[in-house]
Amino acid sequence: MYLGLDLGTSGVKAMLIDGEQKIIGSASGALDVSRPHPGWSEQDAADWVRATEQAIAGLKAAHADALAAVRGIGLSGHMHGATLLDENDAVLRPCILWNDTRSFRQAAALDSDPQFRALTGNIVFPGFTAPKLAWVRENEPEIFAKVRWVLLPKDYLRLWLTGEHVSEMSDSAGTSWLDTSKRKWSESLLAATQLEERQMPDLVEGTESAGTLRPELASRWGMGAGVVVAGGAGDNAASACGMGTVAEGQAFVSLGTSGVLFAANASYLPNPESAVHAFCHALPNTWHQMGVILSATDALNWHSGVTGRSAAELTGELGDVLKAPGSVTFLPYLAGERTPHNDAAIRGAFAGLGHESSRAVLTQAVLEGVSFAIRDSLEALRAAGTTLGRVTAIGGGSRSRYWLKSIATALNLPVDLPADGDFGAAFGAARLGLIAATGADPVATCFAPATAETIAPEASLVSAYEDAYQRYRRLYPAIRDATL
Ligand code: XUL
Repeated sequence: MYLGLDLGTSGVKAMLIDGEQKIIGSASGALDVSRPHPGWSEQDAADWVRATEQAIAGLKAAHADALAAVRGIGLSGHMHGATLLDENDAVLRPCILWNDTRSFRQAAALDSDPQFRALTGNIVFPGFTAPKLAWVRENEPEIFAKVRWVLLPKDYLRLWLTGEHVSEMSDSAGTSWLDTSKRKWSESLLAATQLEERQMPDLVEGTESAGTLRPELASRWGMGAGVVVAGGAGDNAASACGMGTVAEGQAFVSLGTSGVLFAANASYLPNPESAVHAFCHALPNTWHQMGVILSATDALNWHSGVTGRSAAELTGELGDVLKAPGSVTFLPYLAGERTPHNDAAIRGAFAGLGHESSRAVLTQAVLEGVSFAIRDSLEALRAAGTTLGRVTAIGGGSRSRYWLKSIATALNLPVDLPADGDFGAAFGAARLGLIAATGADPVATCFAPATAETIAPEASLVSAYEDAYQRYRRLYPAIRDATL
């Protein structure tokens, strides 16, 4: 048996699979995000441990025997968070998350130092880890002075699980401190933020062992000695392992809290100018590109909070038949945007409202706005030399057929839906646990699920969608200039 643990923004998911990769069960523990100021987004590391305990207790209640047979664990987690520890491994402040944009000034300053783009292959985005440390140094110098370790969120869980300070390549590529082509920490980038390599965890590949489960936890969960904890991956690379997106030409669109268009690459293909992320994959000698939008289901959840209707009710009101975009356009920049704008200050908008703009019209505009934001990422990937022929959809938002049709039509690409099952980050993490514990071949283990159904672009609406996309494109500079 193998256990995947995915530390997501809204909860921890624990999944058990057997040696044949059959899913035995899963359970979760909920998490909240605290937003003490506009643009801030934080979580307490202690809550990750609590939510993980809760998820594992759920598995234990339903599958105690299977849990006891676990030989390998894989970790996945939301990326870029700065978890700061002192010399006793005590947490110094709440973790600053991936969608926190407070450090936009520090990010711009680091990004203007050419070595960052040259070595990391990426813009220094405000959500990445290095500018957060620069913000802490400027605003909380007493905390910065105590920083002994900087860990990514899932690597803090690993410390709790194994007692080791270890990370792996895919998540570390999102810090702005990794030399992405060489897959090692860059001393000069660390020095540019007044840090040293000794403050960083050791690095392994996602498929390698990074330690073993502490005996105390093993006995609490009924497991034996020597359970291997794999390097694991950042959540997007972990999802890619779950989806079998590990070789050139394979891609997925993820509709989670964030939205991601992810393409696997056989080589390192940076193109920071298009705001595409170029990161190491979780498999050795493999890289990937992705466009990232900060609010995907988060945009629908915001709309749900404002209207007092659940997301399922709102999308249900639209029915399954795709409509032509109307006069209302929504920009989903509730927390700023990464791809393609790299703009932490921009905020969302509804444009073109009329008396006839009902709740359903606004829901339609919200879904379309996210689809157009994903289309922006497709254009950014194209500019970075990657052409996609089809994509597979995953994430909570892919439960809405309307949204899937809207994405297929906005991208003008077929969207595949995996056959029944759960092939997300927790499953990918469990696969990495299996590989690390057994030495199984990574590419052969991370095969793609069967396709249950393909959602084709709605041919009669492709040109209406194209016109609406062009309108959407024109709104960003107008709103930016009007709200400066
Ligand atoms: C990727 C990113 C998000 C988080 C949250 O760069 O910031 O997708 O990993 O899931």
